[in-house]
Amino acid sequence: MAIAIWSSRFETGIPIIDTQHKALFEAVNKLADSFKAGTSAAQVKASMDFLVKYTVEHFQTEEKYMREIDYPKLTSHMAEHAQLVAKAQGLQAKLAEGKPVTVEVTTFLADWLKHHINEVDMGYVEFLKAKNRKG
Ligand SMILES: [Fe+2]
Ligand SMILES: [Fe+2]
Repeated sequence: MAIAIWSSRFETGIPIIDTQHKALFEAVNKLADSFKAGTSAAQVKASMDFLVKYTVEHFQTEEKYMREIDYPKLTSHMAEHAQLVAKAQGLQAKLAEGKPVTVEVTTFLADWLKHHINEVDMGYVEFLKAKNRKG
């Protein structure tokens, strides 16, 4: 079940960022799929581990990029990233301890991702456009 469906409204126009965002959508969908009956706990854990690792990598790429363009809202953007990483690592720890995690977490992650790209990531896209207009 694809719960994170890519659309052009998520496109930043920055190739590396778009590639990573698409891969994050796929990772969330893969995690959602792993909640299907018959999937082993080890597979759910592997999907969550991948998602956390890839999310951290993406945030590092994005934060480096925002520093390069002197984005003024870097600090608050990084705070949102840190909150999500803490939440995702909490879920990861629960799975590692064998505690139940419900499929609803994937809806949370999909919604977070869509919101974050549209409302927060687009902030540096707009900033860059304005900066380029000024020359
Ligand atoms: Fe971001
Ligand atoms: Fe992003």
